Amino acid sequence: MATYRIAWLPGDGIGIEVTREAVAALRAAAAVGGWPLEIEEFPYGAEHYLKTGETLPQAGFDRLRTFDAILLGALGDPRVPDHRHAADILLGLRFRLDLYVNLRPIRLLDERLCPLKGRAARDVDFVILRENTEGLYAGVGGNFKKGTPDEVALQEDVNTRKGVERILRYAFAFVRSSGRRRLVMADKSNALVHAHDLWQRAFREIAAEHEDIETSHQFVDALAMQMVKDPSQFEVIVTCNMFGDILSDLGAQLQGGLGLAASANLHPGRIGLYEPVHGSAPRHAGRDIANPMGAVLSAALLLREIGRPDEAGRLESAVAACIHDGRTTRDLGGTLGTRAAGQEIRRRVLSQG
Ligand code: NAD
Ligand code: IPM
Ligand code: MN
Repeated sequence: MATYRIAWLPGDGIGIEVTREAVAALRAAAAVGGWPLEIEEFPYGAEHYLKTGETLPQAGFDRLRTFDAILLGALGDPRVPDHRHAADILLGLRFRLDLYVNLRPIRLLDERLCPLKGRAARDVDFVILRENTEGLYAGVGGNFKKGTPDEVALQEDVNTRKGVERILRYAFAFVRSSGRRRLVMADKSNALVHAHDLWQRAFREIAAEHEDIETSHQFVDALAMQMVKDPSQFEVIVTCNMFGDILSDLGAQLQGGLGLAASANLHPGRIGLYEPVHGSAPRHAGRDIANPMGAVLSAALLLREIGRPDEAGRLESAVAACIHDGRTTRDLGGTLGTRAAGQEIRRRVLSQG
């Protein structure tokens, strides 16, 4: 049997601690599934940058793309205030691998974790599809008279026909292939009359080719309100890069917090990058308190994408069982540290029938 090869970039802060548990969970999944797994660790992150001046060297990038998948912790360190290494490594991988889909599931595993009153698990179960290669993240812009009272800062919102169309097409295909029916497109076309007019037109055109899918549009501000008022109306939300970033943290809290939120950066047919939605949380780093579940659930997304759905399901069931049993870190009301929570997950991965 062919060996599955996974590249692991622990990154910074709690990213290191949570992906250590996700890697151990992947090894447990491979043991259960009886398939060979090779995981190689890459040092790219703040520490490596401060030591060597290197963010993501070309040779490292070339090697990374030879793997079946990449698992990433998080990037961000107070010693690098300009976020240079995060831009080169995290955004660099998204852009250079052209991972135009950022898939962020919002799924309430246990109703006790929902901050909304009277919501059952079935009421919070949708997916945010975030455009991941352009928009305000394109890095187009600059400064004029920086540091003076007359300074100007420009950050352009780049929306290309190709970029908008491919994430929308992915969204329609995803609704179908995942057995869902409804798709909402969120934009701000009432204010961004150029950029989001393109989203409007492309959405209407592609919707006309998919009459079996129930489509609607919401302005992103109203949609944020609706996510809190009635999350059960959503099945799939597709939106631009910046709005997807913000909505996914809001969604994370609906399912119990950032510690639980998982994501996949995808381009169908190519290598994917999997990471928890949260960041490096520097204040929590090195204290064995971070919740590893978002990282483990990201590893589950990875397994499903590389063709191991049974083991992906095992990781997800193990996380759900830990929550049910109260064997969690403090953010979810438990008493466990990161390592112990990881062990509890692993034990359930290995012992499921
Ligand atoms: P953050 O996600 O790191 O943390 C925000 C808060 O969420 C934390 O203070 C904590 O209370 C909670 N939290 C997050 N993850 C948790 C976990 N696993 N377990 C328990 N609680 C958790 O966001 P931030 O503080 O805004 O950013 C810190 C750094 O991380 C910044 O440098 C930022 O740029 C970076 N960042 C990186 C990524 C990434 O690499 N994917 C994502 C977001 C933020
Ligand atoms: C995320 C993060 C990143 C983003 C930051 C660290 C650049 O917030 O993955 O959600 O904005 O995409
Ligand atoms: Mn974010």
